Order: sequence, then C-alpha cells, then structure tokens
Amino acid sequence: MKTHIISDAVWCIPIDVDTTELFEGIWPIPEGVSLNTYLVQGEKTALIDLVQDRPEAPRQVETALASIGSDFGKVDYLILNHLEPDHTGWLREFREKNPHGEIIATAKGIQVVKSFYKIHTGLRAVKDGETLDLGKGKVLTFFEAPNIHWPETMFTWDSSSGTLFSCDAFGSFGALGGRLFDDDFNETELKFFEKETLRYYANIVASFSAFVERGIQKLSGLNIACIAPSHGMVWRRDVKRIIDRYLRYVSYSKGAGEREIAVIWGSMYGNTKKGLDAVIKGIESEKIPYSMHRVPNDNVSYILADAFKSAGLVLAAPTYEYAMFPPMAYAIDIFRRKHIHNKTVLYIGSWGWIGGAKKEYEAAVAGLKWNNLDPFDWIGTPTDQDLASLEARGRELAQALKA
Ligand SMILES: Cc1cc2nc3c(=O)[nH]c(=O)nc-3n(C[C@H](O)[C@H](O)[C@H](O)COP(=O)(O)O)c2cc1C
Ligand SMILES: [Fe+2]
Ligand SMILES: [Fe+2]
Repeated sequence: MKTHIISDAVWCIPIDVDTTELFEGIWPIPEGVSLNTYLVQGEKTALIDLVQDRPEAPRQVETALASIGSDFGKVDYLILNHLEPDHTGWLREFREKNPHGEIIATAKGIQVVKSFYKIHTGLRAVKDGETLDLGKGKVLTFFEAPNIHWPETMFTWDSSSGTLFSCDAFGSFGALGGRLFDDDFNETELKFFEKETLRYYANIVASFSAFVERGIQKLSGLNIACIAPSHGMVWRRDVKRIIDRYLRYVSYSKGAGEREIAVIWGSMYGNTKKGLDAVIKGIESEKIPYSMHRVPNDNVSYILADAFKSAGLVLAAPTYEYAMFPPMAYAIDIFRRKHIHNKTVLYIGSWGWIGGAKKEYEAAVAGLKWNNLDPFDWIGTPTDQDLASLEARGRELAQALKA
C-alpha cells in the first residue's frame, strides 16, 4: 500500500476497497472506493480518520505507516472527522494497539465513540474553531460540519500546508489504484471520477445539501491549497473544480438541475414502453438530452445520480395488482428519502382493467415539491390518439425545461 506525500509533514494512506462489496450495504461500487487515512507530523503525531473493520485494511495502513517510520503506537492523536464505520470500524483494535493516544472528535462524535465502540477514556471533544498544536509549527483547526454526512461530522484544517481534511465532503466512489492527486489523472479519468463524485453525492450526501452549502460557506475565509477527502482523489492542481462541482450539486437540490431529462421506466409486456417511445419522440423533437434507466434492471444508485442532476423526469410504469409497478414504487420512495426535489415530472403508464398506478403515483409524490405535468395513463396498448397525446406530453415536458 503506497503512502503519498502531500507536503513535508502530511501523508495520505489510501486503501482501495473491493469492487464486489456494496458501500453502506446498498450502493454498488463496481470500480471500488478508497478509504483515505492521513498522517500529520509535528513534534506530536496525528492520524486523521481510520479505516473500516475489513480483513486487509488495518494491516495495509500499518504497512504504510511503517514505510514512513511510524506505527499505530506512535500516534498521539487520532482525529475522527466522522464516526461512520467506514472510517472508524477498526477503532477498538486501534485502541488496543495504542492505549495512550487521545481520540479527538466533536462532542457528538465522542458520544458515538462511546456508544459504538464502548471506549470511555482518552477522549477529547473539540468545538468549532478549536485548535490542536502538534508542535514544529503544525497547528490543526477543527470546523464543525454537521450532517456532511452524519450529525457529528467536522473538517480538520492544516493552515501551514493549506490542506483541508474534508472527510466525506468532496469525495467520490472509484478506487485510486496507486495514484492520488488530481494531477495524476488524465481528463478521461477525471471525467470518470466526476461521474462517480455525482453518484456518491446523490447516494450519500444529497439529503443534506443545505448543510453542504453551509459547510462550504464556512470555508470561504481559508486559503485552501489542497482538499483531502476521505474517499477518492486529493485535489491540489484545481481545488476550485471540486468546490464548484459541489456548489453545482447544491444548486441541483434547489431546482437548478441540468436542462436534461432522466427517463425511468418499467414494463412487464411492452405496453408502457410503446407509450414511452412516443414521449421520447416528443422530447427528441425539442432536442433536450435524456438518460434512460429501466427498473428493476438498473440499480437505483445510478438512477439517483441521473435523476438528481436532471431538471426533468419521466416516470413510466404500469399498474400491478391495483397499484404501482413495485420497482417503480421503490424508485419513487428512494427519491423521497434522498430529497430529489424541485423536478418537473411526467408520469405515464398502461393498465388492464381498472388501473391504480396513477392514483398511487399522485399520493406518493404529493410531498415531493415536484412540478407534476398532468399524468397520462391508458388501457392496454396505446391507440393512435393516445400516442399523439403522449408525444405532446413529451414535447410539453421538454419545453417546460426551456422556459
Ligand atoms: C401481475 C400483473 C398484475 C396486474 N394488475 C393489474 C391491476 O391490478 N389493475 C389493472 O388495471 N391492470 C393490471 N394488470 C394489467 C397491466 O396493467 C396491463 O397489462 C398493462 O398493459 C401492462 O403494461 P406493460 O405491458 O407495460 O407491462 C396486471 C398485469 C400483471 C401481469
Ligand atoms: Fe459517511
Ligand atoms: Fe465515508
């Protein structure tokens, strides 16, 4: 496991996680994800964020520490920006290897150390703006950043190197494979990580966009040379690029989505799909770009990413047992949970004898802050008249995005 030098007294140890796992037990990571630990050296040694309790990870961190002449026993302060177990799962074992060091977190973080790991001594709660002097000119400052991603989250700031240890904020899915910095990757690779940053945000952070905005405002007075998140690459060539990207994501949550449409559809025997094809014709006639996802075939993780960034949605699904086609009901429920708000949305679907999907749709989205175009459903195969109406609905949706 490679250790990367960020500045003369700051190192990063990124551990790549297996692609077969589900992140948080839900989200697929076919390209992996990294868990980044940082070491800051003054006269005293601080380790920032730990690793998940996975078979290989702690040993990999240990090997990396050894390569720079350190080990767990030499750590004076373990700073936990965020207590989610992807960064803390190995905490009890760390404590056994290091009984003397102080564990530092916000007051809420310390509560989690106690409740999750039953560790009750050697803990220090820090407040917003509090500093920790490591000696040799290394002074760390802590900034509370609640709900990016859990309530106890904070950022750690090293003013001497201009490095912000931002934990989940500014992070992404995607393993690093031995590289670390934004200048280690070419534009194609950066584009890949951009997609994985969006998916990470939509899956993990989207519900907390208001807090992300406040967190970024808090950073406005800092001269940031380097953003060092706990997942994904470290930004040093173009810090503004990742901050601007996050500001754009915040704007998506307020309704300023990209002028495109995420089409999410499901169909048992093709009747809904026939109607959807007419809607797509209408969208294409207005030259608005769109993405397509079929449920349940496509994982909701990717659907969330496209739905989050798009200003418009088409949801197309038939009636199933007097109600919504179940995989679409699940997708809508995830949109509610993940605060996919302020979208312009068209629902369409076919039914066989009495319907039910449209009624469930209308009830399900009542609280979603969506601009709903008139839903359209029909019996069986769409007639020519239905198809003409559906095409008009597609045009109407596309035009609404241009307004
Ligand atoms: C398992 C199943 C359950 C269904 N339940 C209902 C129902 O409760 N009410 C209804 O009007 N139609 C129901 N239908 C009929 C479908 O809604 C109808 O065939 C529709 O055209 C299917 O659209 P699709 O071809 O896009 O799957 C059901 C069909 C299936 C296969
Ligand atoms: Fe997290
Ligand atoms: Fe995390």
